[in-house]
Amino acid sequence: MTERRPPRGAAHELERYAGLFSARTRVMRSSAMRDLMAVTVRPEVISLAGGLPDTSTFDPALFARLMSEMPPAAALQYGPSEGLVGVREAIVSVMAAEDMHVDPDDVIVTTGGQQAIDLVTKTLIDPGDVVIAEAPTYPGAVPTFCSYEADVIQIEMDADGMIISALEETLARLDAEGRRPKFIYTIPNFQNPAGVTMSLERRRRLVEIARERELLVLEDNPYGMLRFEGEGLPTLRTIEGPTGAPGENDFVIYAGTMSKILSPGVRVGWLVAPRPLLAKLVLGKQATDLCSSTLAQHFVAAYFASTDWRPYVETLCELYHRRRDVILDALAENLPPEATWTRPHGGLFIWVTLPDYIDTTDMLARALADNVAFVPGEAAFADGRGRHSMRLNFSSSSDEEIREGVRRIGKIVAEQLALYDSLTGRRRQPPVAPRTFEPEIEPAAPEDLADTASGEGMAHILQLPRRGSLGGRRSREA
Ligand SMILES: Cc1ncc(COP(=O)(O)O)c(C=O)c1O
Repeated sequence: MTERRPPRGAAHELERYAGLFSARTRVMRSSAMRDLMAVTVRPEVISLAGGLPDTSTFDPALFARLMSEMPPAAALQYGPSEGLVGVREAIVSVMAAEDMHVDPDDVIVTTGGQQAIDLVTKTLIDPGDVVIAEAPTYPGAVPTFCSYEADVIQIEMDADGMIISALEETLARLDAEGRRPKFIYTIPNFQNPAGVTMSLERRRRLVEIARERELLVLEDNPYGMLRFEGEGLPTLRTIEGPTGAPGENDFVIYAGTMSKILSPGVRVGWLVAPRPLLAKLVLGKQATDLCSSTLAQHFVAAYFASTDWRPYVETLCELYHRRRDVILDALAENLPPEATWTRPHGGLFIWVTLPDYIDTTDMLARALADNVAFVPGEAAFADGRGRHSMRLNFSSSSDEEIREGVRRIGKIVAEQLALYDSLTGRRRQPPVAPRTFEPEIEPAAPEDLADTASGEGMAHILQLPRRGSLGGRRSREA
């Protein structure tokens, strides 16, 4: 008879190993999204939590052909740590599509974009070193920065991305304290989780700051190709100029991934960095995994060599565009006037801000009971902020699921508001006549929000624009 074992990580089991754990494990955080994945695989759960692209759109016949044409011995063998030449050439062509012209020797293949963030952090960060990131930032980067014991300082954003004047103030404060950030981490396009895009002016200024102060910037760009509205903007990498060009300084490290334009399952990402840094990054990679999966790299190389990859990305953009519209309509229909959200022009995410007396971390348990999931905003901050916000994904659920998922979330939010009203005796404002909004982006106007219990809180915590100012197509406004 087999003995029943206590659940993994039970307290008394952990205690047995506690004395062995490194100091760094004390600051390790779990990835909220990974934890959520475990729950959201239940078929009855509508997950607006993941950052999953819709892989069901990939042609099964093409998949079968690519798999069958792979050279078995080579695909089953180790490969170079820098990555297969065919993959690095494919990466060069993807970057060229965003007007970045790099040499394959400036590229290393990583195991997804996640490893790119990990390697840069591992290479640059000693405990206590400062990393600057956006507020909110990619929830998957928070556990990475924490694992290396970075001091993460997050800079407020608005509809134009990171507020550069706030960055400059922070840099001046750090100067006064004799501290120098090791790098600035930014996702300029369709930011995860906020969905906003950094303006051209801010991109230029950020590159100028990097040059003036000789600061490294890690530009993470998984979503740049997933634009379904508006004009593309140059990457920081493009603004800075080609790597190693005479008279150019190299302060932008560029991270990309195949995850959102082909497949996250292949786990193929990449880094482009100044050569001295690249050499250290390769050493870090060797220590981690020797090389990224050769099997997956052969798949990627064969895909790019035998197919035009752009029509597939266009198909994805069309699909996500429609789903973005579906979720915006559903939010307008189901969330109360106190809520605000962003209106992305690409990518996979919308950031919703609720009144500050609603705690989305607590609310998640209630949502899971109703079989709907989102990423609580707290996961996007290293310091516990964000507890009245949530990230919603619109790429991986059907239109119907999106509508139903948002309806369930709306119902739970309404319950929370009613509870708050009954506890505080607050009376909700009656709806006013419907208004239409200009699509121009304006900064948040705290005074406009002050008559709601959430107003000051929202403006203080996250200066993302109000729903109305972002041109959300609301059929009613209260
Ligand atoms: C901003 C950002 N960086 C990196 C990653 C990790 O990508 P990958 O799946 O290639 O590891 C993601 C994934 O969602 C992301 O949103």
